Amino acid sequence: MRFTLNGARRAVTAHPMKRLLDVLREDCGLTGTKEGCGEGECGACTVLVDGAAVNACLVPFAQVGGAHIITIEGLGGRHPLQHAFVEYGGAQCGICTPGMIMAAVALGPRSSLDAPTRSSSPSRWTPFVDASGSERSAREPLKPSRRS
Ligand code: FES
Repeated sequence: MRFTLNGARRAVTAHPMKRLLDVLREDCGLTGTKEGCGEGECGACTVLVDGAAVNACLVPFAQVGGAHIITIEGLGGRHPLQHAFVEYGGAQCGICTPGMIMAAVALGPRSSLDAPTRSSSPSRWTPFVDASGSERSAREPLKPSRRS
């Protein structure tokens, strides 16, 4: 099956019912997308498919033919949200952080997130306020580090 992964055309042969999560990790070697619950509840496996945030653990590989998929690796470590998660303590143990960032990327640029909700990627380990503060700060113009 052919699709675009992080901006590059890919052709992967896998069972059509194999989970996109497993195709990304096992067939494409992109282990940044994590498995938490494996049943569509936690959002740890969130990737973008044609710009929409999806739980890769619930998507059969057969559904992504011709799609444009972006994983956490596709952000290249340079996305403002990644910097903000580090700067404001939104980063967590590493299991759910990539999914939280991808879910936030799917929201697109906004002037504010005045009423954040726990719609996706709720962490069970770190107060949500840290992640939502990181998301909010990433939507503001980049400022000099507050740690310098
Ligand atoms: S691992 Fe996919 S939603 Fe939890």
